[in-house]
Amino acid sequence: MQKKIAIVAGARPNFMKVDPLIRALHSRNLQTELIHTGQHYDTNMSDIFFKELGIPTPDVHLDVGSASHAVQTANIMIAFEAYCQRAKPEWVVVAGDVNSTVACSLVAAKLGIKIAHLEAGLRSFDWTMPEEINRVVTDRLSDILLTPSPDGDQNLLREGIPAEKIYRVGNIMIDTVMRLLPEARKQTILEELKIQASEYILCTLHRPANVDSFESLSNVIEVLETAAESLPVIFPVHPRTANTLKSHQLMARIEGNTRIQLLEPQGYLRFLALTSQARLVLTDSGGIQEETTALGIPCLTLRENTERPITITEGTNKLVGTDVKKVLSALKASLESNSHHKDSENYSPPELWDGKTGERCADIFESLLSRKEPPEATQESAA
Ligand code: UD1
Repeated sequence: MQKKIAIVAGARPNFMKVDPLIRALHSRNLQTELIHTGQHYDTNMSDIFFKELGIPTPDVHLDVGSASHAVQTANIMIAFEAYCQRAKPEWVVVAGDVNSTVACSLVAAKLGIKIAHLEAGLRSFDWTMPEEINRVVTDRLSDILLTPSPDGDQNLLREGIPAEKIYRVGNIMIDTVMRLLPEARKQTILEELKIQASEYILCTLHRPANVDSFESLSNVIEVLETAAESLPVIFPVHPRTANTLKSHQLMARIEGNTRIQLLEPQGYLRFLALTSQARLVLTDSGGIQEETTALGIPCLTLRENTERPITITEGTNKLVGTDVKKVLSALKASLESNSHHKDSENYSPPELWDGKTGERCADIFESLLSRKEPPEATQESAA
């Protein structure tokens, strides 16, 4: 019987990461099973990505839904353990840093199933972020660690992960950006919203630190109100953010501003159309820091730290924190500067953010499954 690779996807940011891997594994006739944990379940947070990216229908759906961290993680573990005992995969691939990632890693490790972590090694060094806990635990449990950038390799080596487990494969999300950018450019969303390319600010926010309390979300709204005096603001609202807006009557305040357009969460193509043509992006998302860097679009990140420092040192991202005055001064500076990275001949995204990461991962799996020597792990020593 052919050895099976179980690929886990649970939340929105996982879908664009597993798709290139599944494509590359299938092109080499390697057997995969896709497991959707159900961490995200709304059409706009899940189904639309499967449809637009052309991801195969999941072989197994665990249907866990939303809950507290402990309950959600536990429910995923119970359901995924039953799947593993039944299906006996040779490898489990987990992506990113969401609760589904750590839950399935814990199950696989205890059943003695090998784990590959896609997007390994990222560190914000901020232990108040649930994602940081998920990243560190998942990396510690993984048998191979597929990293997007040299800082990932260094973080892992510093934590004592043996160099032979670490493979720098590049940024797999960017495979999907590059494949679907032409399709995104055909979307009519700018006309629908009556906005012009390079003449609007795109905003996304969903980190608990920014959106869970009245105080932090009011600060962000103050930033958006001031930003909207310069350019129209387009704001697709994550369900977590919508919950706080509604519960604190902030929705009415923001809806009253005709220069700020609130949208439902957007599908992949419409959102990529918005990102790739924005004058500036304001965000607290990890993935959007990377997508803007790949696209050469200026990005201001409303956080005190980032697990993706390469987007600052080599890309278009600036970390601006959450203090209203500081964010507004960075916003003003960015709008006044004429640096259009995407048009600059001298700008190129980080190394290995080239649309071929899925293929590099598949090379590794092909070798591991046939027990040939895998391509060489990244050989670096800890700093
Ligand atoms: C999760 C990830 C985060 C990722 C984000 C992307 C963890 C710990 N967090 O955060 O790293 O950046 O996804 O979106 O895994 N909800 C819906 N519909 C859905 C899903 C969620 O309405 O399809 C609502 C529910 O009220 C839920 C809340 O959003 O309680 C938060 O969802 P959850 O998956 O717990 O965390 P996210 O904030 O989405």
